[in-house]
Amino acid sequence: MTQQASPLASRVRGGRAEGGRRQRSVDPAHTTDVVAEVLLAEPATFVDACRAARAAQAEWAATPAPVRGRVVKHLGRLVEENADALARLVTREIGKPLAEARGEVTEIVDTCDFFAGEGRRLYGQTVPSEMPDKQLFTFRQPVGVAAVITAGNFPVAVPSWYLVPALLCGNAVVWKPAECAPATAEALAQLCWHAGLPDGVLNLVQADGPATFEGLAGALEAGLVDKVGFTGSTDVGRRIGELCGRHLQVPCLELGGKNPLVVMPDADLDLAVEGALFSGFGTAGQRCTSLGTVIAHRAIHDEFLARFAAATESAAIGDPLRDVLYGPMIDQRFCDRFVGWLKLVQPHHRVHGSTGTGRITAANPRRGFVGDPTDGLYCHPTIVSGITADDELYRRETFGPIVGVAACGSLEEAVALANGPGYGLSAAVYTRDPATAFRFREGVSAGMVSVNNSTSGAEAHLPFGGNGRSGNGSRQSGIWVLDQFTRWQALNWDYAGKLQKAQMDVAEPTPDRDFRL
Ligand code: UN1
Repeated sequence: MTQQASPLASRVRGGRAEGGRRQRSVDPAHTTDVVAEVLLAEPATFVDACRAARAAQAEWAATPAPVRGRVVKHLGRLVEENADALARLVTREIGKPLAEARGEVTEIVDTCDFFAGEGRRLYGQTVPSEMPDKQLFTFRQPVGVAAVITAGNFPVAVPSWYLVPALLCGNAVVWKPAECAPATAEALAQLCWHAGLPDGVLNLVQADGPATFEGLAGALEAGLVDKVGFTGSTDVGRRIGELCGRHLQVPCLELGGKNPLVVMPDADLDLAVEGALFSGFGTAGQRCTSLGTVIAHRAIHDEFLARFAAATESAAIGDPLRDVLYGPMIDQRFCDRFVGWLKLVQPHHRVHGSTGTGRITAANPRRGFVGDPTDGLYCHPTIVSGITADDELYRRETFGPIVGVAACGSLEEAVALANGPGYGLSAAVYTRDPATAFRFREGVSAGMVSVNNSTSGAEAHLPFGGNGRSGNGSRQSGIWVLDQFTRWQALNWDYAGKLQKAQMDVAEPTPDRDFRL
């Protein structure tokens, strides 16, 4: 049991912010192992952090973008040099298997590599004017202060999707990480500061949800925040959207999903099973891109289900430091909530995939469990077949290792079932037919579509985001996120030496409109 000498705290202007309630973060694979103790800040600390960010932002924005890009480049290299330590901390604090944690760390490096170069682009345009002796230009202006609130399932990769482009674009940032991953957050923030960020440009606030909401409301009211980025639940996203709307702001919202995976009769069934297994149970189903419902065509439904159930029964689940499909749930809260969703299984459903449901314990064991489940927050994988559009399980996001299986009779029916729950984050189709793939892409409401691949595991330089209950249409990653962290400024420069009035002083060509061949 390792305990910090003094608890972790928020850091504003590079200094420790004292005060607040103490909370422990524990290893979900061994809940007796305390990873860190943290002081959870009061709302006033959040406001102070925004004030510090406001004070530091102008000078950072005045730093040439290529120089800001160098900081991002140094961050990428520092993350690479510390990759193993950071990945192990992610595994220890939130329980995702080490191979996935390493992938998550790589996603930060990929993000830094992409945006280091953006420092030398961040292009604006030159635009022709309708009048002579006049030039038009567009510039990307930083938004100002960005408040970024992130979740525990991707405690470093998803924060980097906000922090890296926001900083590169010349914004100052206040970052509120998940309460269940304070040590991981402190580690990423330290790497950012050591990459060469000036004091106050990135501030870390360790706080719970209610204090953050109150602090954010105060900071918005005081005019200290210009952009909010939020990754988390649809319900909280809705509240943040309402709050930002009152200040005429559009937040970047990355919310939940009930992601469908359609299996058509011409699919490679083994490939579809492999995809469903990883989509549904990777990260113990705790990705916003995790598979919610398999929609299998009746022609292959029974065969698919039999193979999927067999693959799930024999999957390695357990110690996240070993070669497993998934480890423990992120923390007690996620675990309890997931176990609660199992009440949605109805008599008309059939359950497959393990030797039990709910928590894996000595009294409720899983055959083939890797390691020792005592003191760990492990849950059985659960496949629920017989899902229909009337079921609560069909509609509700169930963040955890549970996958529904529904049947369909046509692609049209599959698309309708895929869109039915009203989310629109990620969707997959397994088919060998290009026409089916393109028709699915066109009809499905998801912001991200996979053909013959998992619903999860998006690459770090494609637009990431959803529609409907999955978000407000904002996109992260790649060039697309630049529109979140900059605003277009248009410049017109007239050197005619006289006032030229747009639309009124424009030369008019004289066509001969009666001409015919
Ligand atoms: C999330 O779950 O919030 O596409 C993000 C994926 C990961 C990111 C998931 N690259 O599954």
